[in-house]
Amino acid sequence: MLGLQGFTLFVIFLAITYSHLSPSNNLQLPNQASVGNQGCPNSTTISPCTCTDHGSYGLSMDCSEVQSEERLKQIFQVQFPMNSFWTFSMVGNKDIKVLAEDIFGSATFEMFHITDGSLETVEDGALTGSKDTAKFMYFLDNKNLTKFPFQNIHEFRILDSFYILSSNISSTSGLSSGSLTQLGLDYNPLELPLPANLLDGLPELVRVSLAGVNLTQLTPGFISHNYHLEELRLEHNNINHLAADTFQSPSRSLRIISVANNHIQDVEHQAFPVVESLTIDLQHNALVYLNASIWRPLTEGHVMLRLGDNPLACDCDLAWLVLDPWNQKYTENGTCDGGVPISWLEPTPFESCWDTQQPIETTDIYLV
Ligand SMILES: *[C@@H]1O[C@H](CO)[C@@H](O)[C@H](O)[C@H]1NC(C)=O
Ligand SMILES: *[C@@H]1O[C@H](CO)[C@@H](O)[C@H](O)[C@H]1NC(C)=O
Ligand SMILES: *[C@@H]1O[C@H](CO)[C@@H](O)[C@H](O)[C@H]1NC(C)=O
Ligand SMILES: *[C@@H]1O[C@H](CO)[C@@H](O)[C@H](O)[C@H]1NC(C)=O
Ligand SMILES: *[C@@H]1O[C@H](CO)[C@@H](O)[C@H](O)[C@H]1NC(C)=O
Ligand SMILES: *[C@@H]1O[C@H](CO)[C@@H](O)[C@H](O)[C@H]1NC(C)=O
Repeated sequence: MLGLQGFTLFVIFLAITYSHLSPSNNLQLPNQASVGNQGCPNSTTISPCTCTDHGSYGLSMDCSEVQSEERLKQIFQVQFPMNSFWTFSMVGNKDIKVLAEDIFGSATFEMFHITDGSLETVEDGALTGSKDTAKFMYFLDNKNLTKFPFQNIHEFRILDSFYILSSNISSTSGLSSGSLTQLGLDYNPLELPLPANLLDGLPELVRVSLAGVNLTQLTPGFISHNYHLEELRLEHNNINHLAADTFQSPSRSLRIISVANNHIQDVEHQAFPVVESLTIDLQHNALVYLNASIWRPLTEGHVMLRLGDNPLACDCDLAWLVLDPWNQKYTENGTCDGGVPISWLEPTPFESCWDTQQPIETTDIYLV
């Protein structure tokens, strides 16, 4: 039985594995002292599911041990004293492959978390009984989860966070929501190229994560309908080129765009927006040149550039950075190909760059 211990482990797992997305912010555990089973249905009638009463948070239902879809359905056909639950969870279940349309009877949930199981299909309408109550949906590491009713999501009027990670989702066609603030689709075999309007129907989005989906290109303007966006995560993809206007955004509260761990070699003008408070994480890419015309408007606009682990050529193209401490203040961890930090470079050899356009000798540069 997983019970509260399983639930706690799940929360810790979430916090560690997806800490950058921090869905765990929303998953604070209630005071253990108030935990019991006072409001729960008769434990015999729901076995092998277990119910825990978390006081003001409500009731959690853990069905990790249930061995058939028939049994799961039967459990929720019983008329409970209270039908509104806080969470439904199923962790490591190898027997439930389908959540059928009517599976939860009249039970409603605020949160679904189904992790590391054999789930393959969530049928149209399976979760819709909770359309007025569900705030959080976490489907993590269900490697065979292939079918999900994305077209139902717009009906969930207070849904805040929706994560389907490390599953087998190829398309999210029909996904729209007037309430969703957090979306994660990391490590799914999404059909590429991504539809240019993937995020257009999600006007309240604050955080989006599309890490590890083998993206090679991005359609310019793909976040241009997301006025409240703060965080965009695209780590561990195969992006090598960023076209002009790729990340143009109407949001004035952008905090982070991460394209770390890609293969980015070239970046066109205005690929990134100039928003004070924005950090662009470019670590572990293939950038050789940081041309002033492209990057200086960002540092001058107080955008922070994380540059660690790029094979930068420390020649005259970098003079704008080496000679200007202000600009340097807005870069982190930049190193020349070979490992010498930009901040160690002796400025003098670069002073001739603007007069002569002569390439400078590497030996000059590394004198500190
Ligand atoms: C729970 O249900 C079982 C089987 O229906 C019954 O025998 C038992 O008395 C019930 N317990 C309570 C506390 O109602
Ligand atoms: C996923 O499906 C494959 C092929 O049907 C099966 O071998 C595997 O056990 C399934 N994985 C899980 C976690 O059920
Ligand atoms: C993933 O989905 C594809 C269809 O989109 C299917 O052919 C494949 O068998 C699925 N893989 C797993 C592991 O379920
Ligand atoms: C990405 O591509 C690699 C190589 O083609 C493949 O092995 C991997 O499964 C893909 N990942 C996803 C999430 O589709
Ligand atoms: C950046 O500078 C390099 C070297 O001077 C040049 O080859 C490249 O075309 C420049 N890129 C852009 C986008 O201006
Ligand atoms: C990267 O830069 C930050 C801020 O300057 C610093 O705290 C961190 O130690 C650096 N990391 C590496 C690997 O140099």
